[in-house]
Amino acid sequence: MPNWLRIAATSPSAELSGLLAEGLLACGGSAIEEQGDTLVTYILSVDDPDAALDRIRDVLQAVLGTDAIELSADEVPEQDWLAVWRAGLEPRRIGARLIVSPTWSEVNAGPDDLVIRIDPQMAFGTGEHASTRGVLRLMQQLDMHGARLLDVGSGSAILSIAGALLGAQHVVAVESDVEAMQNATENVDRSGIAQRITLLCALVDDAFIDAYGGGAFDGVVANVLSSVLLPLLPVFHRALAAGGWAILSGILVEEADTMRAAAEAAGFAIDAEDVEEQWWSVTLLRI
Ligand SMILES: C[S@@+](CC[C@H](N)C(=O)[O-])C[C@H]1O[C@@H](n2cnc3c(N)ncnc32)[C@H](O)[C@@H]1O
Repeated sequence: MPNWLRIAATSPSAELSGLLAEGLLACGGSAIEEQGDTLVTYILSVDDPDAALDRIRDVLQAVLGTDAIELSADEVPEQDWLAVWRAGLEPRRIGARLIVSPTWSEVNAGPDDLVIRIDPQMAFGTGEHASTRGVLRLMQQLDMHGARLLDVGSGSAILSIAGALLGAQHVVAVESDVEAMQNATENVDRSGIAQRITLLCALVDDAFIDAYGGGAFDGVVANVLSSVLLPLLPVFHRALAAGGWAILSGILVEEADTMRAAAEAAGFAIDAEDVEEQWWSVTLLRI
C-alpha cells in the first residue's frame, strides 16, 4: 500500500513562496493550500517516509537555492485528496458582482450578480487564491464593455470568463500548460458566453504578439509570477491599443516597488492597486 505524506513547508522568506509552490508541485504535490506562511500539500510516496522526505528536501533546496526551509511530513491514510479538497469548496463572492462557484453548488445570486462556474481541478483558477481574487476585484473597477482582452496564463479560464461576463467583446485566453486546456474548455463551454472566448495553448511572448499585431488588445490580465511578468511588460505595452490597460497579479507585496518602477519604465502609469494576504495586484494604464 503506498504512503501518502502530508507535507508542510515554510520558506525562509515570502519572496521564495512562489518557488516553494513550484518545487512542491515538482515533487508530485497535489493542490497546494496556503496556511499562513506555510504551504501544505499531499504527496504519494512509494519509498519509506524518511527517504521520501529526504528526496523532497533535496528537490526544494535545489529549486530555492537554500537549505533554510522548514519541512515536516506526516503519514496519512490513503484518500482521494482531490475529492477531499473539492468537497470543502463553496461559492465565493469576489468584489461587488462576481461569484465564483464550484459547478455543483447552489448559488444565491442577486439580479446584478455574475456567476462563474468552475470545476475545481487545480490549485489556481478556482478563486481560492488571493492573487486571482485581486485581479477579479480590479477588473470590476473598469468598464469592459466592447473590450478585446488577452488573458495571459489563463489556467482554468476564470479571468477570461469574468471578462466576458463583465462585457468584453472578445477574450483570447492563452495558457502554456497543455494539461490545463481540458478543464478550461469545460469551464468556458458551460459559461454561456463561449462564443466570445478563444482558448489557445501557447506561450505569450514577442512572437505571439507579432501574430496578432501591435495594439490588437484593449486589456491584458495576467496572474503569473513576477519573474515572468517583468520581461513581459514591454510585450504587454506593444499588445495594447492607445488607452489600454493591464491588470497584473502574482506579485508579492515586497516586490511591488520593483514592479511599479519597471511598469513606469515600460510606459505605463499606475491606476489602481489591491492587496490581499501577501499578494499585490495592480491596474496599469498604457501611456
Ligand atoms: C497562477 S496561474 C493563473 C491561473 C488563472 N489565470 C488565475 O488567475 O487563477 C498562472 C498560469 O500561467 C501560465 N503561464 C505562465 N507564463 C505564461 C506565458 N508566458 N504564456 C502563457 N501561459 C503562461 C502557467 O502555466 C499557469 O497555468
